[in-house]
This record gives sequence, structure tokens and C-alpha cells, in this order.
Amino acid sequence: MTPDRLQDGIYFRSGQRPPPYFRLLLLDFPPSTQPTEAGSAIGRTLTMLGDLRQGNVRDLVGQDDEQTARAADEFRGTDFMVAFGARLFDNKQHNPPLVGSPRPDFLVRLAGDDEAFPALPWGVLSDRRGESDVALRLTGFSEASVNRSAVEIWKLQQDEKLAFKIVASFEGFSRRDGRGWLDFHDGVSNIESSERLVAIQAGPDPAWMGGGTYMCFLRFAVDLSAWRALDRAEQELIVGREKLTGRPLIGINRGPAGEVLPVAEAGAAAGQGVAPGADFREPPEVSDPLVKASHLQRANRNRASPSAPAAYRIYRQGYEFLETLDDHGPRLGLNFVSFQGDLGRLRRVLHLPTWLGDINFGGLPAGSAEHPPLQLISLVAGGLYCIPPSESPFPGAQLFNRSADESRAAR
Ligand code: HEM
Repeated sequence: MTPDRLQDGIYFRSGQRPPPYFRLLLLDFPPSTQPTEAGSAIGRTLTMLGDLRQGNVRDLVGQDDEQTARAADEFRGTDFMVAFGARLFDNKQHNPPLVGSPRPDFLVRLAGDDEAFPALPWGVLSDRRGESDVALRLTGFSEASVNRSAVEIWKLQQDEKLAFKIVASFEGFSRRDGRGWLDFHDGVSNIESSERLVAIQAGPDPAWMGGGTYMCFLRFAVDLSAWRALDRAEQELIVGREKLTGRPLIGINRGPAGEVLPVAEAGAAAGQGVAPGADFREPPEVSDPLVKASHLQRANRNRASPSAPAAYRIYRQGYEFLETLDDHGPRLGLNFVSFQGDLGRLRRVLHLPTWLGDINFGGLPAGSAEHPPLQLISLVAGGLYCIPPSESPFPGAQLFNRSADESRAAR
């Protein structure tokens, strides 16, 4: 089997589990940056991050072996991944153009109007950031490791006057119990490990992306008060799983007063004997309209085998966040991150009715007395990115290999 060329930091191999801390750093190049300056700024930053992983901290040159080993220990397992947004390919933003290659299909900016996607509005407090020339995704085993990596990038940029500006940064964490803010298991069903590579690996068009992948980053605010106003049965129907066990729902029964009683599939509870997040449990095909309308069934309606294009499979790797907590309550949510072989697939999931195109999160569409639609999530920030495969000296380096003559000709 040929080894894959995906960058480190997509934890898709059997037994791999994403580390619990996440930080995404967004970088833009000023308009007149030369392609070679942009390329060397990225290369230099990635080299510095590699040195950091060895325990070599720039401001602590001269540390003895023991101190260096301790620093290396702190950064052990910290991964960094480089991604490029639609802005990098936009010649209105860059003169001279930074890259000579055309923008990959579906790598577009998110709609800036009221709604980024048909059922996903921008939140009131949204700053609508999330898109940039370059995104660096840092994941690691401590808050210190990802946060220090981010600040070391800033220091390097300042000291060496690297061509980029840091324009935004987002943090996130995951829970040890495998649940999210809704208190349901999340990531229970996340494509069987043997099928993940097929779902995430990009094809050879454009050639420089062959063997890479595409990332969707959507930072959602979750309205926890609205969620907690629902009773457990209502919540289970909206998610499509039993709350305590994580078992997928297969139908409903009616109680004495006609109330809906969700029925879950028999079998092992989520996480039994397997690490949360590494588990895989395909939800069964269901016929009850209420269960069919749940988030789980909408996001994967089992219409095709997971590897078929019409299955629109995406590999999720979300991280929760808590931004503020004051008298107005918590401002919290999910950094939804997904990897997929093409962004058209994600677009379809978020646009098609009966998928996530006609409802905010889950439930029956408006007009159903049985289950009034819930406005649970709104977008705070987000962006789409391509993640070129590993390559020397760094992923995507060939994009910036343009002579001054070529750059002038492209203007
Ligand atoms: C704040 C936003 C969101 C929250 C809190 C959330 C939460 C959940 C939960 C609790 C599950 C069930 C547990 C599991 O099977 O892993 C789930 C499953 C899933 N969600 Fe979401 N989700 C969110 C947004 C989205 C969006 C925007 C998409 C699509 C672009 C999506 C796609 C999926 C998929 C594909 C599954 C698994 C379905 C399957 O079993 O194949 N989610 N999500």
C-alpha cells in the first residue's frame, strides 16, 4: 500500500485520537508581498515550530540539556498543519499575485449576508472572521503547548519581520468523556478508520493538491439556554441518540398522554471498551419521520455506502470553546472542523433539504406542530481551506515558486 501524504494533525488512522487542545492561527499577507517572501515566511515559521518540538526555544538559547529536554517534553505530540484559504488565490488582494495556480473548485469565501448557509445564520455577536490567506492549525496535549506555539510564531514574525500579519486566532478543547456542550456524545460515529482515507484524500485536480485534503472550519455559538429548555426526550429526538448511552434512535413509542418516547437501538453504549472519539458506530436506517429528521440522520442518512460519492461523508474533528462567562451567561460553542476530499461534498450537506439545508441543527422543518424548529446554532467565524500534501520544504511550497518575471506577467 502506498503511504499517504497527508500532513500530520489529521488523526484519521486506526487508534489515533486527536489531542485535546486546539488553536487556529490565521495569517494574511499585505497586498504587495512578493511570492518568494510569502513562501519563505511560511517555511521559516514551520522550521521554527519543528525546532520548538525539539525543545529549542528562540528566547532561551543556551538552555542546558535538561531544560531543553523539559521544553521538548512540553511540546511532545504538538502538531501543526498549514492550510490555504480562498484569499491567497485572489488577485484583488495581492499585487503581484502570490500564487500562479488557479483556486481549487469550491474553495470560496463564505457568504457575508445574513446567512452563511441556508439554515446557518451569522450570530449577532459574530465578527465574521475566519478566512485568511494561511491558517495554521495547532493541536497538542496542553494549553501551554498550543498557546506557546502561537506566541512563538508572533515573536518570530516580529523579530524577523516576516511578511504576514496574524489576523485572528481561535482556541478550543475537547472533553475526556467524549461529550460536547449539548452533553451528548459527539464524534461517536465518525467513519470507520479503514474508510477515512477515501473520505478525506483529495484527488489530482489541481495536481498540487493530489493526496492532500480540504478543511472546513465553522465556529458555532450554541444557545445553551434554548437547549436546556428542552426535556430529555426532545433533545434525544433532535440529536438522534439516547443521551446517556449514545445509542442511535431507531423509532418512537407513544406514552399514555400521547407523548413521544424515543426508542434506541439495543447494543453497547458509546465508549464502552473504546476510547471516545476513536469509536465508530454507523447509525441504522430508520423510517420514522421524527427520527429521520434528527441531526444524526440528516448528516448521514445512510443513502449510500460511506465511500460512495453520494454518501457525502466528512471526517469531523471538533473542539469546544468557552469565550466568556458573565451575567449574560456563557458564550460558548463548537469549533466544527471537518476534513473531506472535496468541498463540494460539504456544500451539499449544508445546502440540501433533508440534510442540513432546511433546518438549524435538527428536527422537522418549520410548520410542524409536533416539533417546533429550534434555533440552536449560529456562526461566529468560519472559513474553507485547502491542505496540500506533505512536501519539501513545506506543504504547498511549489505554489510560491514564481520568478519575478512570472509575477509581473500575471498582474
Ligand atoms: C454546534 C454545531 C454542532 C453540534 C453541537 C453537533 C453535534 C453533533 C452530535 C451530538 C452528533 C451525534 C454524535 C455523533 O454521532 O458523533 C453529531 C453527529 C454528526 N454531525 Fe454534528 N454537530 C454540529 C454541527 C454539525 C455540522 C454543521 C455538520 C455538517 C457540516 C455536522 C455533521 C455531523 C455528522 C456527519 C455527524 C455524524 C453522523 C453520522 O453518524 O454519520 N454537525 N453532531
